[in-house]
Amino acid sequence: MPSYFVETSACRYPVLVERGGLRNVRQFIPERAGKAFLISTEDVWKLHGAALARAIGDHPHEILFFPGGEPRKRLAEVETLAEQMVARGGDRSSVIVAFGGGILTDVAGFLAAIFMRGIPVIQIPTTLLAQVDAAIGGKTGVNLACGKNLLGSFHQPLAVIIDPGVLDTLPEREYRAGLFEIIKHGVIADADLFWLMSREPQRVMSHAPEVVDRMICDSVRIKAEVVSGDEKEQDRRRILNFGHTFGHALEAETGYSQFLHGEAVAWGMKAATLLGAKERLLSVEDKQEILRCVNSYGPLPPLAGIDPARIAARLKSDKKTVQGKIHFVLPERIGAVKITADVQERFVAAAIEEALTC
Ligand code: GLY
Repeated sequence: MPSYFVETSACRYPVLVERGGLRNVRQFIPERAGKAFLISTEDVWKLHGAALARAIGDHPHEILFFPGGEPRKRLAEVETLAEQMVARGGDRSSVIVAFGGGILTDVAGFLAAIFMRGIPVIQIPTTLLAQVDAAIGGKTGVNLACGKNLLGSFHQPLAVIIDPGVLDTLPEREYRAGLFEIIKHGVIADADLFWLMSREPQRVMSHAPEVVDRMICDSVRIKAEVVSGDEKEQDRRRILNFGHTFGHALEAETGYSQFLHGEAVAWGMKAATLLGAKERLLSVEDKQEILRCVNSYGPLPPLAGIDPARIAARLKSDKKTVQGKIHFVLPERIGAVKITADVQERFVAAAIEEALTC
């Protein structure tokens, strides 16, 4: 299977997509590295830890566990892991191997970014969402109570190793959550990928290997290309936030406990699509296709009782909001989006309200 490369002004690293690819981890640990700290969650480790430990072989290593869950994606957990690293001989020559879903790869990546002012990290994502988005591109961080990922850093990994085979043990709800990030890639940059998601839900949901591999490879290609062109999200990388501004507000409003990140993004994509149509950027036909495609991978957790006005207010504290201006990523057609701060507030309110019921 192919490798993709992320290339920034400071580094170039591979994103390897390969069934059984875990076995390659050792080749990415720098020759002179000290201890490798394998950071995982207990459930991932039970399923796949033996394969990773085999691949690490006799390189000195320690295994640390993160409790998992969006509510635990906080600075206090980073500190706990850092203390454990020091207690077990971590130093500036250490390397972190992040082995888990998107919350884990964000937290372990952030720990790597700040431990003794920065050590390398190898990302090995084990959920679909982390494989197609979170683990690629160097965004790391933790949540504040008032907002998602508000503490963080760009810290590019040495490599990202994606083994689509590990998805066979992924709970269905987690798998669905990752599918929404793939639909996102289709809407923002690849109409063929969108139509695959739209027309082949049975093959997608049955984990047909050729479909899973294609969804991952197409997403990785898009993500690697976008990040390579704009590592620090000054410009084009913002398109990857389609659905995220609304989604982050929903996650924060519901205490990070009701929606998986991908589910919140799914809702956010519906809101952004409705807003795009209200702003007359998007045709009615494409609006309906996007809503239909997102809904076909539902259901989302219940949205009743969520106050649209509170979601609208939260948009203002998103980190994409600059000097009070909220930048929205709105679809213009399937396969292309526009970034704009020039939207009517009444349309934003109406799109949020409609997305809560459609
Ligand atoms: N998840 C959006 C990005 O990496 O930019």
